[in-house]
Amino acid sequence: MKYRYGKNVFITGASSGIGKATAHTLAKSGFHVYGISRSGGEDTDYGDGFVQMLKMDVTLDDSVRAVTDEVMRRAGSIDILINAAGTGVCGAVDECSAQDAYMQMNTNYLGVIRMINAVVPDMRKRKCGLCINIGSVGGIFAIPFQSLYSSSKFAVEALTECMRIELKPFGVKACLIEPGDIKTGFTAARTYAEKAKNSEYGEPFSRAIAQMEKDEQGGASPQIIANAILKMIKRKNPPVRKVVGGMYSFFRFLKRVFPDRLVEFILTAMYPGLKK
Ligand SMILES: NC(=O)c1ccc[n+]([C@@H]2O[C@H](COP(=O)([O-])OP(=O)(O)OC[C@H]3O[C@@H](n4cnc5c(N)ncnc54)[C@H](OP(=O)(O)O)[C@@H]3O)[C@@H](O)[C@H]2O)c1
Repeated sequence: MKYRYGKNVFITGASSGIGKATAHTLAKSGFHVYGISRSGGEDTDYGDGFVQMLKMDVTLDDSVRAVTDEVMRRAGSIDILINAAGTGVCGAVDECSAQDAYMQMNTNYLGVIRMINAVVPDMRKRKCGLCINIGSVGGIFAIPFQSLYSSSKFAVEALTECMRIELKPFGVKACLIEPGDIKTGFTAARTYAEKAKNSEYGEPFSRAIAQMEKDEQGGASPQIIANAILKMIKRKNPPVRKVVGGMYSFFRFLKRVFPDRLVEFILTAMYPGLKK
């Protein structure tokens, strides 16, 4: 059943990539989509469904509160929350400061917490709702020179697992979509930790980042994630997580069955310039 949670969807990061593809796919399917990003975006009417774009910054408490209140006033309720806003901060572990870590966490993790604080209490009262958090394969495997990004996505994994258990008695569901390499604006938006701008790690660092950029830009269309989300919304009991894109669901299986050292060896071998 398509509208088992209701028609009103709130999507963060809806101006680009995965969030944008999801917003339009759901609106074409009749959902009333309220999308946000710092830059806003164009509204689109599809007849039954629509995308209305608003400006909001997930790193700012007041911005989140004001915009979610406004959407609840306009729509009556937020039935489905999709947390897709995200950025990547790269750098070797000892070249990433606490400030760099805070910036990464503030968007990818604290941003999700702000959204949950603003939206879930009403879902709980209504005893209905679905939260879909966009994780990453970087939340399953720790990716070299992306320790902050991987940490933020590991944190979203834990958060989602707890949401499922705690919210189950209230009929509110939660799940993760874990994209592999997807061709979006994410690559161009990636920033460097302050010290990593002149990294002492030299070529292994620059080659690993170049490899990641190549993988992302050679990756699948964000539409495959949007399609997976639409399928997830139709499910009565969404699974804990769904890996989408590339050969990563196979890798996830390997992580479950292979010893940690072997997984580490394979990951190291994937990035040229890193010593095996
Ligand atoms: N692309 C991949 O290969 C890949 C792989 C695994 C996971 N993911 C995850 O997928 C999610 C979506 O990424 P994407 O690939 O679609 O990247 P994208 O094309 O760069 O889209 C990111 C979106 O987030 C918004 N955003 C960033 N910071 C924000 C903030 N502080 N407040 C509100 N909105 C903010 C951006 O808009 P503004 O800049 O206008 O705010 C944009 O709409 C992220 O969580 C990312 O970690 C991506």
